[in-house]
Amino acid sequence: MSPASDISEESPLAAVAEVLSCPVCGRGLVCAGRVLHCAAGHSFDIARQGYISLLTGAATKLTGDTAAMLDARAAFQGAGFFEPIAAALAHAAAAVTPSDQVAAAPEVIADIGAGTGYYLARVLDAVPAARGVALDIAKPAGRRCARAHPRAAAVVADAWRGLPLRDHTLTAALSVFAPRNPAAVARCLVPGGRYLVVTPTVRHLAELIEPIGMVTVDPDKERRLAAGMAGLFTRLDTVAVEYSMTLTRGDIAHLVAMGPSAHHTAATGAELPEPFEVTASVTVSTYAADPGAGSHRDG
Ligand SMILES: C[S@@+](CC[C@H](N)C(=O)[O-])C[C@H]1O[C@@H](n2cnc3c(N)ncnc32)[C@H](O)[C@@H]1O
Ligand SMILES: [Zn+2]
Repeated sequence: MSPASDISEESPLAAVAEVLSCPVCGRGLVCAGRVLHCAAGHSFDIARQGYISLLTGAATKLTGDTAAMLDARAAFQGAGFFEPIAAALAHAAAAVTPSDQVAAAPEVIADIGAGTGYYLARVLDAVPAARGVALDIAKPAGRRCARAHPRAAAVVADAWRGLPLRDHTLTAALSVFAPRNPAAVARCLVPGGRYLVVTPTVRHLAELIEPIGMVTVDPDKERRLAAGMAGLFTRLDTVAVEYSMTLTRGDIAHLVAMGPSAHHTAATGAELPEPFEVTASVTVSTYAADPGAGSHRDG
């Protein structure tokens, strides 16, 4: 890994290769030109678009977001509507101070289910010494994330099949509206590392549930999140971020097209008054791994 002085000069994937692990045998990866390989000879090509796929085995049914969903998500994020959420997350990430023992090591922040890379880019701006890994199961996300930030490396992988990251290498992991694998994250965090989790509350986009059949937030979500973290992580802090967005019909069409509702509704918001007020409501929580949690195997 380069010293911080030439942090912008190395390719993002080469710069984080040492924290990535071979998805076949678990050994470390090294970067050689357009390829990452392990000591056992497993080799993975860096795609022309700059991401690396570490997907292995039979094609999974879970292919993640489509290119059209990511285009809509990028358009909505690009209009700034989720800026307060990104700012709260960046603030939480900047507050992470790994313990002295690891402070000398390069900081690495992984966003798991990174989508467009929007949130990781904001976090990397707030933590100038850090390198980023944007991990997502979808290749279109890999393409976008490879362009998201000069210090972000894009990795295509299935978080449910174990993270292709070495033990105790991450100073922070992010999960923003994304699937969570807490056991795998605990294994990857350094001592003092933090898991930053953004989840919607029941009020998030609630005005759109009835008129256009937006998928509702499970009222049991908080309890399920707590149950998934129990025994692995302890919550240190939670910040509520709630505000109103004044949306055009075009904005609403993006909102529908970027999420799970795209599969469930034919409505686009064309029948709604314009502009239309819609609530954004999330929590940004900071978790610390419990002692011993990092020895779990990825689930
Ligand atoms: C609702 S989107 C959120 C994306 C991004 N964090 C944001 O808020 O803009 C969920 C993301 O998780 C990804 N995803 C779904 N299943 C996954 C898995 N098993 N492993 C990794 N990523 C996954 C999807 O491809 C999608 O990009
Ligand atoms: Zn290998």
